[in-house]
Amino acid sequence: MSASSNSDGNNEMVVTPWEVKGKVDYERLIREFGTQPLTPELLAKVETRTGKLHMQIERRIFFSHRDLDTVLNLYEKGIKFVLYTGRGPSGPVHIGHLVPWIFTRHLQEKFKTRLYFQVTDDEKFIIDDDSTLPETKHWAYENALDLIALGFKPDDTFIIYDVQDMDLLYDVALEVAKRITYSTARSTFGFQDSTNIGWVFWPAIQAVPCFLHKKLTGENVPALIPAAIDQDPYWRVTRDIAQKLGYYKPAQIHCRFLPGLAAGGKMSASIPESSIFTMDPPQVVKKKIWNAFTGGKGTAAEQRKLGADPTVCSIFQYYFYLFEEDNAKLSERERKCRGGEMLCGECKVDIVAKLNKFLETHRERREKAKDTIEQYHIKRK
Ligand code: TYM
Repeated sequence: MSASSNSDGNNEMVVTPWEVKGKVDYERLIREFGTQPLTPELLAKVETRTGKLHMQIERRIFFSHRDLDTVLNLYEKGIKFVLYTGRGPSGPVHIGHLVPWIFTRHLQEKFKTRLYFQVTDDEKFIIDDDSTLPETKHWAYENALDLIALGFKPDDTFIIYDVQDMDLLYDVALEVAKRITYSTARSTFGFQDSTNIGWVFWPAIQAVPCFLHKKLTGENVPALIPAAIDQDPYWRVTRDIAQKLGYYKPAQIHCRFLPGLAAGGKMSASIPESSIFTMDPPQVVKKKIWNAFTGGKGTAAEQRKLGADPTVCSIFQYYFYLFEEDNAKLSERERKCRGGEMLCGECKVDIVAKLNKFLETHRERREKAKDTIEQYHIKRK
C-alpha cells in the first residue's frame, strides 16, 4: 500500500496511514500531500482565541493544516466546529498516540467544543491478517481508557466504537462510498489485486464522523481533525465529496511523529522495544530508555570535548514533544548537550523520572476511567 511519499537512497520515506518509515521530510509532505504550512499569521489568529499558544503548536509539532483558517473565520462569525480524531485499536497505546490527543484536549477546552472520537476496531480487523474481532474490540475498550485519562469531559466527548455503533454510521458511509470511485481510492491508498474488499470500502467509514454531527443534532458545522499527517489520505478523499453531500469540507491540523527510541522512524507499536506504552511498568521504561539511541559520542571524554547532537537524539525529542514545557529550560538542556556539559546518562535519568511520574498519574486516571467510560459512549447520549 502506498499513499506514500518515497525518496531515494536507503532511508526511503514512506508515509501512509498504515506505515511510516525512513527519515520523514515534512516540507516535502506538505508539497506532495498538498497541505498548507502553519504560518505566523495563522498562529496569531489561533492565539487570539486560545490565549498563550499550546507548546505543540508554538514549537510547530503541529506544522501543517487544511482549512484551519476557514474554520477559524467561521467560528468568528458564530459557526462553531466539532473536533474529530481517533484510534485504530491494534494493541496498547504508546506515548506517540497521546501527542495529538493532548492537543485535541487543549482545543476542546479553549473552544468549548464537542469531540467525536472514532475507535476503528473494524479497520484493524480488516487490514491486519492476524487480528481477530474479539482482540480489536478488547483494545478498543483499553484504548478508550487512555483517551479518557487525558481529561476529556464526558458531556462533550462522544466515543464511537465502529463495530458496535455501525447502525449510526452506515447510512452516511453508504452516501460517501457511492461517490468515491475505485480508481480514486486505488490511487490514494495504493490498493492492489490482493487487497481484501473490506479494506476497499473502509475509508468511507473513517469519513463518517466528519459529518455525523448534522445527523445527530441537525446542525451543519465543519469538523476540525487534529492527527499526525499519516491520516491525511483519508481526508483527501473525504474532502472531495463533502460538498456534494451538503457538508463543509473537513479541516485538518497535522502533527509530526514522535520518534521511536531507535535511530530514525516514528514511535510504532509494531516495534515494541522502541515504544513507550502507557502500561509499561517503571523498570521497563527505564530499560527502554537506557537502550535508546541518542546523539551522543562513543566515550564520555569525547562527548565532554565535542558535545552531542540533540537534533538526532530520541530522548531530546521527548522533552521537546511532551516533557519540557518551559522553553528556557529546554534551551538550557540543548545548550548543555551541544557543549558537552551534560552527558546522555544524566539526560536519560531525568527523562526516566519524568516519564514514570507522568505514566503513574496517567494509570491512576485510566483506572478511574473504568467507572465513567460508559458516559462517553455515543449511544448513551
Ligand atoms: P492510529 O491508531 O494509527 O493512530 C492514532 C493517532 O495517533 C497518531 N500517531 C502519532 N502521532 C504522533 N506520533 C506518533 N509516533 C504517532 N503514531 C500515531 C495518528 O496520526 C492518529 O492521529 N485510522 C486511524 C484511526 C482513526 C483516526 C480518525 C485517526 C479513525 N478516525 C480520525 C485520526 C483522526 C488509526 O488507525 O490511527
